[in-house]
Amino acid sequence: MNNLDSENHIRGKSVYLDDIPEVKGTLHAAVFGSPVAHGRILKLDISKAESLAGVEKVFTFKDIPGENEIGGIIADEPLFACDSVHFSGQAVALVVADCEHTARKAVSLIELVTEPLGVITDPRVAKDKGELLFPPRTFRLGNITGAWDRCDHVFEGKTDTGAQEHLYIETQGAYALPADNNSLKVYSSTQGPTAVQKTIARVLRIPMNHIEVDVARLGGGFGGKEDQATGFGVMVALAAHLLQRPVKLALHRIDDIRMTGKRHPYSADFRIGLSSDLKIIAFQATLYQNGGAATDLSPAILERTLFHSTNAYFIPNTEITVYSCRTNLPPNTAFRGFGAPQGMFVIESAIAKAASELNITARQIQYANLLNENDEFQYGQIAKDTRIRQCYDTLLKRHNIEKIAEEISVFNSSSHTVKRGLALMPVCFGISFTNTTMNQARALVHIYQDGSIGISTGAIEMGQGVNTKLAQVAAAVFSVSTDRVKMESTNTTRVANTSPTAASSGADLNGNALLIACNGLLKRLKIVAAKMCECSDNDVKIENELILKNGISTGITWQQLIHKAFLTRISLTENGHYSTPYIYFDKTKEKGHPFAYHVYGAAAVTVTLDCIRGMYTIDQALIVHDFGSSLNPVIDKGQIEGGLMQGIGWMTMEEVSYNNDGRLLSNSLSTYKVPDIYSAPKFVDIHALETEGPELAIMKSKAVGEPPFMYGIGAYFALQNAIKAFNKGYVLDFDAPLTPEKVLMRLYT
Ligand code: MTE
Ligand code: MOS
Repeated sequence: MNNLDSENHIRGKSVYLDDIPEVKGTLHAAVFGSPVAHGRILKLDISKAESLAGVEKVFTFKDIPGENEIGGIIADEPLFACDSVHFSGQAVALVVADCEHTARKAVSLIELVTEPLGVITDPRVAKDKGELLFPPRTFRLGNITGAWDRCDHVFEGKTDTGAQEHLYIETQGAYALPADNNSLKVYSSTQGPTAVQKTIARVLRIPMNHIEVDVARLGGGFGGKEDQATGFGVMVALAAHLLQRPVKLALHRIDDIRMTGKRHPYSADFRIGLSSDLKIIAFQATLYQNGGAATDLSPAILERTLFHSTNAYFIPNTEITVYSCRTNLPPNTAFRGFGAPQGMFVIESAIAKAASELNITARQIQYANLLNENDEFQYGQIAKDTRIRQCYDTLLKRHNIEKIAEEISVFNSSSHTVKRGLALMPVCFGISFTNTTMNQARALVHIYQDGSIGISTGAIEMGQGVNTKLAQVAAAVFSVSTDRVKMESTNTTRVANTSPTAASSGADLNGNALLIACNGLLKRLKIVAAKMCECSDNDVKIENELILKNGISTGITWQQLIHKAFLTRISLTENGHYSTPYIYFDKTKEKGHPFAYHVYGAAAVTVTLDCIRGMYTIDQALIVHDFGSSLNPVIDKGQIEGGLMQGIGWMTMEEVSYNNDGRLLSNSLSTYKVPDIYSAPKFVDIHALETEGPELAIMKSKAVGEPPFMYGIGAYFALQNAIKAFNKGYVLDFDAPLTPEKVLMRLYT
């Protein structure tokens, strides 16, 4: 089944925030962001801006009736800068005017004078200066100190991974409308409507029940709207509330890129020890997370780095420490994979380093250390229903990887200026929010008198197809066509206290809540049907919109059943609440069972490198992925392709660069290169592993949103292998992205 939205997307009919018809009298906002990365505010002059014709008001921290605070986990992020600014682009004021053009013009008339303060952009420098956002954390397994002596080989190294711009097609934005009794209705392009609602309540000092946040869909989020949509939602709410006029804000691309946080860059040191038979005996790593100027989601992202720093391997002696470092960059934030890709890059680098030193392939080390059933993760969970070996073996066999490797080495021995490279990338990714509390969801189902069904959940549709999957779940329970189902917007008045749609768990959490609601309705409907058929409710069944009695059609339709239920005053509405069972995590011990299950997969990536120019193509991405019983193979395949591409982009070409003053240099699409169709692998093969799927996945269909991102990491190591084939003296380094410029330097030094 296709994504429910695909036809409207293609026709340009889907409504995004900026397409919502504007109410008469709507005002338009523009944000004034700090021009400097760090400074004490000496003077903020808004008078010229305020006196510009058409400007209604310029808001600053002085206008805030409640708290000037939007930090979700730690209260360290003001809505508007007060006495100092901490990153270039930090919101200082909001201009509200009768049109967008005037608002933007007024922004240029605002004058900010600051006394410059030292700018830090490097997390290691921040760590040395004691600039940490919160205390570091360490995960341990076994005994690292005693383990080194038992290793036959020990290697060390340093790794760096860069930031990544989300580049959702729809930029950040919100539209707030005043309503009765001091209430507000806020349309927001957010993955977390409850966070927007809660933060508006805090900043405006009004109760949450006075704020209705509504989201139809996002033009992409990728984690960038999990937390960072909140500030913009609060700004328009503040203006709308104080002016009692509708206020809208939609960022221009250049402002969005400059003002919002990105994937956290990480720098790391590692040490890996192996036995002579290639078992990894010990792995130690210290990672420095570049958190930016405020905490945002960094503690949660740091945690997932710790969880996934051994990727798909069992390493008996492990010690991983992560520091979250305060720098003068926009607060870095969630991005597909949520810290896991950064952690996995370190272990894969350590393996590549060891393989290179031992003159063997990384595949040999990977294979010798893949997780087995009942192995313990460094966070205490025991690996169950472990599929990584099956994925890796299937990949090796299906594509005859050793033959591809052989062909590449034959090619490389006869080709002088063009080289090819191959790398494999296994992935193991835990499903659940690592913060146990967040693993809950609700769904509200109405069956209308005509038999049509309306569904509200906490899930946000952002292109990943969650609404389609949810419609399929309801249609499956009632055995009716998905045409009968309408997915409503996500709305805090209909479904309250939602978790953001993130951690790849949108379909699992909301789907299970929906399943509970639909099953509740089905139970009541069966009693009605049994009365209509004059039999026991165990003997009736709904199949393809018909009522069966003892397996034989009664001719009674779904519509007739619903009509009867209504006439006999049976409730046609149900609310479902789901909380993931079994999971817990004890932070005092850093042990527990945080994940409902793990997703497994393995990819092989091959590249061809032009050694004169440093240019390359990604030839193939061959993937074996454990979907469980996919609810929707078309959507899931799309998620794999999209995730893979985003991963390749992060590893090879997307280079976010700031100068020493903390000013973003790659601030538009002319200076920030994202993959296009020419950068896509020439051939992608996605093979579904034959498995049933775990009970805790929605209808045994495993979460799929983030794991495939990490297949892209294979592109880095495939390129590295191609470089090595040309430049025998190349000492492996681990500094992503491996852009063509960097490749060229490595070919000749
Ligand atoms: N796919 C599309 N098309 N657009 C997106 O914004 N976000 C990704 C992934 N796939 C995203 C996407 C991220 S970061 C997550 S966490 C999941 O989708 C969230 O949705 P899910 O929980 O329903 O998988
Ligand atoms: Mo996804 S990074 O968890 O929004």
